[in-house]
Amino acid sequence: MSELAIDVRNVRMHYGTGQRRIEALKGVSLDVRRGEIFGLLGPNGAGKTTLLSCIEGLYRPDTGAIFVAGIDVLRDPQHARRKLGIQLQSTALIDGLTALELIEVYAALYEVYLSRSQILDLLERFGLIDQAHRRAKQMSGGQRQRLALAIALSTDPEIVLLDEPTGALDPAARREVWRMIRALKDQGRTIVITTHSIDEAEALCGRVAIIDEGRIVACDSPHRLIAANVQPVLKATVELPLEALPSLPGATQMRYVGEHLEIETVSPEATLQALYAAAQQHGRLVRDIAVRQPNLEDVYLKLTGRRLEPSA
Ligand SMILES: Nc1ncnc2c1ncn2[C@@H]1O[C@H](COP(=O)(O)OP(=O)(O)O)[C@@H](O)[C@H]1O
Ligand SMILES: [Mg+2]
Repeated sequence: MSELAIDVRNVRMHYGTGQRRIEALKGVSLDVRRGEIFGLLGPNGAGKTTLLSCIEGLYRPDTGAIFVAGIDVLRDPQHARRKLGIQLQSTALIDGLTALELIEVYAALYEVYLSRSQILDLLERFGLIDQAHRRAKQMSGGQRQRLALAIALSTDPEIVLLDEPTGALDPAARREVWRMIRALKDQGRTIVITTHSIDEAEALCGRVAIIDEGRIVACDSPHRLIAANVQPVLKATVELPLEALPSLPGATQMRYVGEHLEIETVSPEATLQALYAAAQQHGRLVRDIAVRQPNLEDVYLKLTGRRLEPSA
């Protein structure tokens, strides 16, 4: 059995021709390990949905190769697709069908024929048992999102692909979906989610690939991405010019923002101690000390030069 759930090798894919040609994927490689929650993090237009569509075998890349559970998607898309549970965007649900009918129909598309009690069990697991006979269009956003998840799970797939699973949900509904996604992992499934939310990537994903304009710019656990790319920022007010400060241990960058000194440091304590000593020598005080731990947003900014989420 292949160690990798998904193996994407140097995939290029474009839309349109001539003036309208868009290179949506510019040589993407990544691997998703069995049993992990893997996040594709990037802004709108980065290429997340295109990449998922290639993995699903819906689009054929211009070049490159994709394997799902060891199966070559370009050669044998049908076989590969049987390993996958694909979450439709909740807006893509057929409005006129009930929850029960939708699950029955989608599973049948994969040649999985579920009994009524199996479908009711599934609805129960996703907190939708009282929605069994309601039409999708009568449901709330959170219910539709959960129904889309239930549909993705209806064929009992090893690997689940979720495209922005918490897109337009309020915080409570979002946490509920997160809980369900973690439960899928606990059942031993592999999950790939796309998101443009830093919170979501940090809260859910064992590993995250940062995707920007059709390229993967980094891929690792959130913790390692942060440690490898950005340092904590120590902020303090010291009435000393930069020239008067000795080189501080641990500090990788120093600058003044207004009268605030900002120091990027790999070792905030050692840096702060040395800063105190230097200030004391000049008879000055160090005030308003704060240390900000960096997050994936800082990593994104560092690697792309842009912010992922407009600052609130
Ligand atoms: N069907 C399409 N026809 C033409 N261009 C498309 C189509 N789908 C996506 N694109 C373009 O491809 C790029 C990647 O889009 P997409 O994969 O949807 O990004 P994401 O899911 O990260 O928002 C964007 O520039 C988008 O405008
Ligand atoms: Mg998308």
